[in-house]
Amino acid sequence: MTASRHDRPRGAGIAYRYSIHDEIMQHRDRIDLLEISTEDYIVRERRLGADAEMRLLGEALDQFPGVAHGISLSLGTVEPPPEWYLRATNRFLEDSGLRIFSEHLAFHSVDGNDLTMFLGMPFTEESVRWIASKYEAVKASLGRPFALENVTYLFPVPHCPLDEAIFFRRICEETDASLLLDVTNLFNNSQNHGYDVGEFLDRYPLERVSQIHLAGGFLTDQGTWEDSHSEPVMEPVWELYEEVIRRTNCEIVILERDSKFHPFEKVVADVDRAREVFWRCRDAEADFVPKDPFHGVADSLISLNPDVPEFAQLKGFQRAMMARITSGDYRAFYAEDPQRAAADVGLTDETWRKRLAHCDLGSMDRLAKSWTAILKQEDEVQSAYESSEWAAWAELLDEPDTVASQ
Ligand SMILES: [Fe+2]
Ligand SMILES: [Fe+2]
Repeated sequence: MTASRHDRPRGAGIAYRYSIHDEIMQHRDRIDLLEISTEDYIVRERRLGADAEMRLLGEALDQFPGVAHGISLSLGTVEPPPEWYLRATNRFLEDSGLRIFSEHLAFHSVDGNDLTMFLGMPFTEESVRWIASKYEAVKASLGRPFALENVTYLFPVPHCPLDEAIFFRRICEETDASLLLDVTNLFNNSQNHGYDVGEFLDRYPLERVSQIHLAGGFLTDQGTWEDSHSEPVMEPVWELYEEVIRRTNCEIVILERDSKFHPFEKVVADVDRAREVFWRCRDAEADFVPKDPFHGVADSLISLNPDVPEFAQLKGFQRAMMARITSGDYRAFYAEDPQRAAADVGLTDETWRKRLAHCDLGSMDRLAKSWTAILKQEDEVQSAYESSEWAAWAELLDEPDTVASQ
């Protein structure tokens, strides 16, 4: 593997979206680096409808150093990592030449149902051990360590012995993972779940932070912060960002924005501000060591067994929680006889059953509603795709593995 501009991305940049390709290229002197969402290129329907041959992406990566960010691994789920995901991500990283990768420390997919919204992990030792084993398996498959991102979660799982800061610390003790600290997610969670962010940072493993995310959201009528990626970064998040930059050796900062791109000047103004803080606190000439060195691709996935008794209750909890969100029949069953409904998916331990029983009902209800909307939207996307010329074209592709279908 030869040296590449993607070995040592450094500074503050923006999450690349092909819809703002031209704007990004026009502002290249105000953006240090790009973060590429692998999802846009490894999911057939998304890639074929946008930048099928990765021509725009190639143009962007000729101009900017880049890092890759995945979204559909569901690292926390007590199931093996999806084969299609590993195969397609490996292929994408090879094709794009990107070296640095990150994913989320959360779960969102169980028994084939993908919520596409992150659920917070139960902060327990079982979760630590499961995440550590699965991280090692994914690392071996991708041939590189990767960074783990904290997510915004609707509710914390109750009755857990650890909190999020210690949970991350324990995972860092068990693995060589670095951390992507999403400062906006941290701010949102501290506001929404009522904890002190300074005290959190004192206990969180700041020494492992290699990347930062910044994004803007809004305050809902219910008084909670929404992680919408649609607004300018909030003032308290800027303060937190500067503190994190000062207290870590982080070298990669990414502004995430998914909508309201225009006027682009307003978006790039947030990148200006992130860069100003970054370069004020960093030595531009420093000879630093990248936090995610490339190790070469491993031959095979190391053994990972989600069926051992050690993980049975965590798995049962996840299956029951997902069934309560995605199935009206299971909800009725659970309402009538929670003990039997829990046992039906392998959840027998009293403490774990209590965790499930006391999860925030309003949030569960909200997730159930959004699941119904997701199913409807998936149907619409699928029928639009099937009737498009892209579907016919995809059939003719020589290499069916080039883009995987989720
Ligand atoms: Fe993310
Ligand atoms: Fe993020």
